[in-house]
Amino acid sequence: MKIKSVILAAGKGTRMQSKKAKVLHKIFNRTLVEYPIKVAQALGAEVCLVIGHMADDVKKEVGNEVSYRVQTEQLGTGHAVMQAIDFINDCDLVLILYGDTPLITTDTLNKLIAYHIRHKCVGTVLSAQVNNPFGYGRIVRNSFNEFEKIVEEKDTNITQKKIKEINGGMYVFNANSLLEGLKKLTNNNAQKEYYFTDVLDIISENDGKIDAYMIKDNTEILGVNSKIQLAEATTIIKNRINSAHMEMGVIIEDPQNTYIEPDIQIGIDTIIEPGCVLKSNTIIGDNCTIGYNTKIINSIIKNNVKIESSIIIDSTISQNTKIGPFAYIRPNSNIGENVKIGDFVEIKNSNIGDGTKVAHLTYIGDADIGRDVNFGCGTVIVNYDGKNKYRSEIKDNVFIGCNTNFISPVTIESNSYIAAGSTITKDVPENTLAVARARQINKEGRAKNKKND
Ligand code: UD1
Ligand code: CA
Repeated sequence: MKIKSVILAAGKGTRMQSKKAKVLHKIFNRTLVEYPIKVAQALGAEVCLVIGHMADDVKKEVGNEVSYRVQTEQLGTGHAVMQAIDFINDCDLVLILYGDTPLITTDTLNKLIAYHIRHKCVGTVLSAQVNNPFGYGRIVRNSFNEFEKIVEEKDTNITQKKIKEINGGMYVFNANSLLEGLKKLTNNNAQKEYYFTDVLDIISENDGKIDAYMIKDNTEILGVNSKIQLAEATTIIKNRINSAHMEMGVIIEDPQNTYIEPDIQIGIDTIIEPGCVLKSNTIIGDNCTIGYNTKIINSIIKNNVKIESSIIIDSTISQNTKIGPFAYIRPNSNIGENVKIGDFVEIKNSNIGDGTKVAHLTYIGDADIGRDVNFGCGTVIVNYDGKNKYRSEIKDNVFIGCNTNFISPVTIESNSYIAAGSTITKDVPENTLAVARARQINKEGRAKNKKND
């Protein structure tokens, strides 16, 4: 069965108060419109986006994984779907969705389609029972409780105003029936608008049965029309993501204050403490602790890693390693197993071998560090001369005294020992003690004079 989906995203979205196209606002790492696109694609549907307001921006952001039709004037939802007539003329079912309704799930649309087929409908509306139906089209049912029609808010009479079953704005149709309905659709009403809901009347008069399938979770039809609703939708998606992780065995201490983007993997018994932010394709292993206020972007964290209040970007941390507090691991860093990266350590574009300790106040940029190296406090790899960056290598088992500078590029061979306070400008051979600092001179009795200066 061939399914196509038309997603309406031409509207202006005035209430968003924004210079940006409404459907390009983001919930986590995805634009609003990507949510229904992904859901439709998960159902195997080919997608056509009807764009209008800021069409070029939308096209540029969404890219060529979908087709586009442009609605130059926003003459109503029916008019919007009419723009896609040539797109839907060679399929079995057509799914109509909105670009500003990101909370709809594949599961619900699967059920809608199953209902549509089981009840031999030509069109099925997704409806919901809400406490405040104001603004929505009402689902009017006959005395047998069968679907009769949809009445838009402006056209409701006093009895219809009280109906709490509303049109969620999503539908599935047999393609042929929909095409017939669209051909006959007019804007013969006070608003001079093409109401998509009129298509239902047209089809049911000519073609067959229209029904409504009522959704269980009302939040799925919530549209985003303002920045307040954007925040509300974000909270709902955040809760769904966090609940799914907890069901799979992750411990999230404070789900309200944990921000995990879609598509992130976390292993069982890993603890996520409050205030953490996990972004873009991060993969975290089992039994880790991601401590307070840690932010991890596009990184791989292996099993049993403990991270305290740190930032990790585009990097890999191997198992049993401890990071932080207050470490900053910048892109393209590879931290080995059983490593300790302590407080106020910054690492960039570097490899750190297994068992190495960088306990405090150190900068490692553009360097390859071997196994079991010990960094004294305050070490700096001086990788930049103001014009170019250089790489240094420190091999296995080197001991580095506090406050050492390595002026890149230098190579320190294994088992060497760098005296504290050294500024290393030349390579150091194996098993060598390198001292690179001015000798101390003691001038007895001179302290008193200095103090009286
Ligand atoms: C529509 C339904 C209403 C339903 C409600 C659910 C009609 C006539 N009414 O209301 O029964 O309860 O959705 O939210 O269909 N759009 C375009 N081009 C246009 C007009 C709209 O692309 O010319 C897009 C908008 O960008 C939006 C979607 O269609 O994503 C819905 O438009 P909106 O104006 O919110 O729908 P309503 O007519 O208020
Ligand atoms: Ca609306």
